[in-house]
Amino acid sequence: MAGRIDLLLKRIGISIVCRALLCGCSDKWSEMKNLKEKIIQADSLEGLEKVRIELFGKKGLLAVEFAKLKDVPGPEKKAFAEELNENKTVLQTAFDTQYQILKAKEIENILQSEAIDVSLYSTLSAKGALHPVTETMDRIIDYFVALNFAVESGPVIEDDFHNFEALNLPKCHPARDMQDTFYFNDGGLLRTHTSPVQIRTMMATKPPIRMIAPGAVFRRDYDLTHTPMFHQVEGLVVEEKGKVSFANLKSILIDFLRYMFGDVKVRFRPSFFPFTEPSAEVDISCIFCEGKGCRVCSGTGWLEVLGCGIVDPNVFKAVGYEDVSGYAFGLGVERFAMLIHKIPDLRSLFEGDIRLLEQFR
Ligand code: PHE
Repeated sequence: MAGRIDLLLKRIGISIVCRALLCGCSDKWSEMKNLKEKIIQADSLEGLEKVRIELFGKKGLLAVEFAKLKDVPGPEKKAFAEELNENKTVLQTAFDTQYQILKAKEIENILQSEAIDVSLYSTLSAKGALHPVTETMDRIIDYFVALNFAVESGPVIEDDFHNFEALNLPKCHPARDMQDTFYFNDGGLLRTHTSPVQIRTMMATKPPIRMIAPGAVFRRDYDLTHTPMFHQVEGLVVEEKGKVSFANLKSILIDFLRYMFGDVKVRFRPSFFPFTEPSAEVDISCIFCEGKGCRVCSGTGWLEVLGCGIVDPNVFKAVGYEDVSGYAFGLGVERFAMLIHKIPDLRSLFEGDIRLLEQFR
């Protein structure tokens, strides 16, 4: 018992000594309570940071007090240190709590100031648009669909038979030079035109036929007006023998070209395609100079826009058709898009440059 009281007295004594010491050692330490208040009153993270430096910083109040520890006489050292640590914990807890409160407030403020009203209309988002080639292709398709043409398709990797032979272009025929392409080791090739779809459709169905075939085609070409991949729309009409004439072909194409280019003159120039006979290339009066002659039409006043003709009997023979007649035509969609939109370099259509494409919105 006596020992315990002794101990108690000792502790109280030490505590008294310690407080006296503390008060004596530092006036600042007496501001402990004030400091806790200061922490609680800090109303911003910046304000709180100032208090943190003042308190916990390298030269802060706590550091100064802890530095005194070495001068405290041996017996009081422990009590001095305990008291110091207690005070430090109180301040640290107050600081942590206040930090959490202020941080939460800051996050709340950010959330509020940056809140997005998803119900508002945005004026910033860019509007998408069809690529000029797609748009031109769609216009062409719409025109012929309205005239009761069916839309057919075929593979882009073709074989020699469909792409050349059945189209009256036998192996080693010099006309093959007009359409050099990309070959696969197994003899397959990237189709050079949409004409093989004529063959596939005729072999799969019976006449009469009234079809167009839009799609990508490939050639070994690359300059201002040619790219290795481009698009064509093919047209084919097959009827009973004698029911289809060159006059029908002329009238449908003249109407179509005026629909696409406005009030232009149209001329049919004799030409050659192995799969049509007679064949013609079709020109429109230059839409840039109205036929006077300019750089685009090379001074001729005319722009070549498509190829056409009466289906060659050899083609019908290849697909097993008898007693029929028909006409066919084929056009390059990029060429149409270039003329309609006055695009000087065809290659730019495939560069995906948004600044160019934006102009066609
Ligand atoms: N296939 C030809 C070409 O690509 C175009 C064409 C099609 C010509 C149909 C006549 C008839 O050049």
